[in-house]
Amino acid sequence: MDVIQAIQGRHTVSKVKPDALPREMIEQLLHAAAQAPNHHKVRPWRFVVLTGEGRARLGGAMAASQGERQPDLPPEALDKTRALPLRAPVVIAVGVDKPTEPRILEIENVAAASAACQNMLLAAHALGLGAIWRTGEWARDPLVKQFLGFEADQHLIGFLYVGWPEFAAEYAERPGFEDRTVWME
Ligand SMILES: Cc1cc2nc3c(=O)[nH]c(=O)nc-3n(C[C@H](O)[C@H](O)[C@H](O)COP(=O)(O)O)c2cc1C
Repeated sequence: MDVIQAIQGRHTVSKVKPDALPREMIEQLLHAAAQAPNHHKVRPWRFVVLTGEGRARLGGAMAASQGERQPDLPPEALDKTRALPLRAPVVIAVGVDKPTEPRILEIENVAAASAACQNMLLAAHALGLGAIWRTGEWARDPLVKQFLGFEADQHLIGFLYVGWPEFAAEYAERPGFEDRTVWME
């Protein structure tokens, strides 16, 4: 599959099989991520790979945080939250380094880490895997960030859920570029 085919063919896959992925395959995704462009060669991306019990511990941190914020929630709601990271055999949390000197800009670090995420989504697609980039309130949750080893003011730009697709993906046509593009000639 060439890169144009991968870009055109990639679609979000939210339902995947519970089967574990070989570590080499996960490393292929991370290797693709690390090829992303980044200004000043700061490599601002940080990956936390959650598999097996690691996902359950993430779910525990999410539920604990939610329970603190919303003490009136019934236990069933917290159980539902606890199970969220179990929706895929691999969850890759992607954090972004904070700039450490004036020439390094936060937005550029976020842009580079986002490119790393897209590289992983494309690589997953090329390997026959399904993936979804998720955020939600958990990506802004200081306790979840702390669990993952990030600072509260560090950006956590997503959780990539990856696994073997449960169903063949339905390819919906996406809107084109025309209404988002101005040509200056
Ligand atoms: C920064 C970002 C955050 C996202 N967060 C979520 C999310 O929390 N839940 C979700 O279902 N999809 C999320 N998505 C995936 C989008 O819903 C998905 O990319 C969009 O529907 C387009 O579908 P496609 O990926 O198949 O083109 C996110 C995508 C991005 C780029």
